[in-house]
Parts: sequence; C-alpha cells; structure tokens
Amino acid sequence: MALQGQVAVVTGAGQGIGKAIATRFASEGADIGIIDVNGEKAQATSEDIRRIGRNALVSVADVANFHAVEAAIAKIVGELGRLDILINNAGIEKRAPFLEITPEDWQRQLDVNLSGTFFCMQLAAREMAKRGYGRIVNLSSVAGLIGPIDLAAYGAAKAGIVGLTRAGALDLADFGITVNAIAPGPIETELMLGVWTAEALRERPQHGAIARFGTVDEIAASALFLASPESGFITGVTLSIDGGAAAAGAYMVEKYRRRKASGKPIGA
Ligand SMILES: NC(=O)c1ccc[n+]([C@@H]2O[C@H](COP(=O)([O-])OP(=O)(O)OC[C@H]3O[C@@H](n4cnc5c(N)ncnc54)[C@H](O)[C@@H]3O)[C@@H](O)[C@H]2O)c1
Repeated sequence: MALQGQVAVVTGAGQGIGKAIATRFASEGADIGIIDVNGEKAQATSEDIRRIGRNALVSVADVANFHAVEAAIAKIVGELGRLDILINNAGIEKRAPFLEITPEDWQRQLDVNLSGTFFCMQLAAREMAKRGYGRIVNLSSVAGLIGPIDLAAYGAAKAGIVGLTRAGALDLADFGITVNAIAPGPIETELMLGVWTAEALRERPQHGAIARFGTVDEIAASALFLASPESGFITGVTLSIDGGAAAAGAYMVEKYRRRKASGKPIGA
C-alpha cells in the first residue's frame, strides 16, 4: 500500500492509461479525483475505484480550460481533503501530413496536451505547496523524443511536456514537489487504435527492441514508482517506457529488416 491515505488527481482517467493508473493507485490505498471530459466513462472508473474500497470523485472538465480545472481541483481538495499526486494523462492525438494540418487542429492539440498539462500542474502545485509535498507525473510520448511522422502538433506538444517537466522540477523543488514524465511507446488503447491504420497496427510494434505493444498496466506501474514517497530524489526526468524504441532510434530500421528477412514470426 505505497499510497495509503493519499489523494491523487488523474486527468483523462475515463479510459486507457489514465484508468489503469487511477485503479492501480486506488489499490495502493489512494483516493482518486478524476478530471475528464467524458462524464460517463469517468463515472465508470469511479465505480471501479469504489469497488476497490477507495473514495473517488469525478469532475467533468476540459483540461484546456484553466477556470474549469481550477474549479475541479477546488472541488476535489474540498471533498477528498488534500492533494498529494497529480497525473497529467489527458491527451488527444490527430494524425495529418505536415502540409495539411489546420490551424484549429494545431491549436487544439497544443491546448489540450501542453497548456492543459501546465494548467493542471500550476493549480495542483498551489495546493501541494501549502503542505510542502507533491508528486507530479506528466504523460509525454516517444513522439516527443524522436520525430514522429504526420504527428507534428502532437509531437511538438509532447516534446514541450519534456521541457515543462524540467522547468517544473526546478521551480517546484523548494515546495517539496517532484515533477517527472513518462514517455510511453505504443500502448494498445482507443487513442492508438483511432490514429493508426490496420497496417500500422501490425507493423509499428516491431520497430521497438521489444517487438510488442506495451500494456496500460506497465505504464501504471511506472507512474506508481514516480508518484511514490520513495522517489523523492527523482525530479526533472523523462522515463521512456517504450520497449527500447527511443533507445534504438534509426538502428531499429536495420533490426526490423533483419527480422523480416529471417522469415520467422516477428515479435513471437
Ligand atoms: N496509447 C499510446 O500508445 C500512448 C503513447 C504515448 C503517449 N500516450 C499518452 O498517454 C495519455 C493517455 O493516452 P490513452 O492512449 O490512454 O488515451 P485515450 O484516448 O484512450 O484516453 C484519453 C482520456 O482522456 C480524456 N480526455 C481527452 N481530452 C480531454 C480533455 N481536453 N480534458 C479532459 N480529459 C480529456 C478522454 O475522455 C479519455 O478518457 C495521453 O496523454 C497520450 O498522449 C499514449
């Protein structure tokens, strides 16, 4: 029970990675504040958390709206009593060739993924600073570490999160708050299924050293590590949980060619 008696806010906990993090943290003893635009899915997660035996509170809010996040965090702190952990997980991704990205799609991906992360960080940190303790974990992506294809807005926002994580780590250390990021590789969730073609879904996992998709539980485990009290000397770090994709970079192209040429089932 690494998080016994703590309160964690998880944004985008209605499904996918956020839901896995919220339920894992509840099973470690934390009460959970959920901020999500999808009220129905957020409610379903909150029911899962109550079945685990912890308290859960849903705030339906868009993380890109500063005042909506402000009200959501005030409500969560008011009802759950404190705020120890923030997981900035809410995110959107829209694939488009560079020459065809619309100003609206560019702006929305920056607003939700980057500004939303900053708004939640700032508002949660104001609460955490009062008690001199906090753990913030931001969801970046392998797309923020190496150049993604047809994902310029998403990749730029996720790279921005790496910089924001470093800046937050320096600015918030004096308040007892650590700030770290996780950069997942391909994880099988609705977000990923929504932006990849069937062919990409077959091929893409083969481009990591470990030739499979990651699981939401593997991301939840790394979030728990960074959010736990024992990780107090880790701050400003972006941890890749990607089966070696970022480590391999261009060398993976060669490894992938050899895998294919071997005729053996890839990723078996
Ligand atoms: N799935 C992957 O392969 C992968 C890889 C790298 C990074 N990530 C990142 O992990 C995070 C979670 O991804 P996922 O695959 O679980 O996504 P998902 O689409 O399955 O779930 C995202 C959740 O966020 C909520 N949400 C979306 N926009 C919101 C907003 N403006 N305000 C509040 N809530 C909002 C959605 O309602 C949903 O519940 C994202 O930040 C994503 O960029 C995912």
